[in-house]
Amino acid sequence: MAVHPASSPDTRLSILQVIVAAGQEADFLHLTHDFEALLTRKQYGRVEVVRNEAEPLCFYVVRYWASAGAARACDADLEAQALTLRLYSLGQVAHVVNSARPPDGRRLLLNDERTNIEIDRRSGYDRRVRNVGRAEGERRSGQDRRIGPRRLRARAGEVDLIAAARRAREFAEAPFSNVKVGAAIEAIDGAVITGCNVENASYGLTICAERVAIFKALSEGQRAFTRLAIVGGGGAPIPPCGACRQILWEFGGDLEILLANAAGDLVEWRLKNLLPLPFDARLL
Ligand code: THU
Repeated sequence: MAVHPASSPDTRLSILQVIVAAGQEADFLHLTHDFEALLTRKQYGRVEVVRNEAEPLCFYVVRYWASAGAARACDADLEAQALTLRLYSLGQVAHVVNSARPPDGRRLLLNDERTNIEIDRRSGYDRRVRNVGRAEGERRSGQDRRIGPRRLRARAGEVDLIAAARRAREFAEAPFSNVKVGAAIEAIDGAVITGCNVENASYGLTICAERVAIFKALSEGQRAFTRLAIVGGGGAPIPPCGACRQILWEFGGDLEILLANAAGDLVEWRLKNLLPLPFDARLL
């Protein structure tokens, strides 16, 4: 094992995981060359691209910043921002490590500022409950219902998030609106955490499925997310409400959003397009 010594105590490391969309690999590699050239020219640092051999479209972009100041300067650099924007159009981007974090410990860190992702390494649990949500006597072909946070072993991008959201929808508590919604959020390590809407007689205390899902995930130590699915009923697919968009943006960044209904219609969005001019911690 080769462990490279830090060239100076001031150097910083950032690692992005990029799952490149099919057919975009050449553009991605070209983009990383442009990024490398920029980092060298402006003396921000250097970049290395590591391919995950087991998953050919999964890359890790390792950036070694010359200093924390260089990392911040690059963050604010318009040329670098333009390249980052292009990167987001070529695949799913998640921040694994960002040691260039400003030392003030801001709590709400967004996309490029997201730091020190603590991936939950517990084995997870898989709580089973008998016949939840079933009428008396009705059984699911010999199986118990699975609920609770559940670690799915498939790699990111392969999990059927919509099916997970559809299952969660069955638990919706919606006696006042009769609008049942299920959501499932995928964390960077592939874990899927679900939620459903929970209504309240005082109406205003109602919480949407998306917020239940992301709050559950955060409370289990998940800090970086890739996708969120929302499943509604028979009508048009339900988009997240404004409050949920704000929360999802602050904790999930530019998530891929999958909207489905009972008929199987599917619409895909990026959160950035659902919340085009976000208010967030960068403006505090
Ligand atoms: N609802 C959600 O769960 N998610 C959304 O994105 C939109 C609305 C719920 C909240 C409430 O229980 C019901 O749908 C009607 O507003």
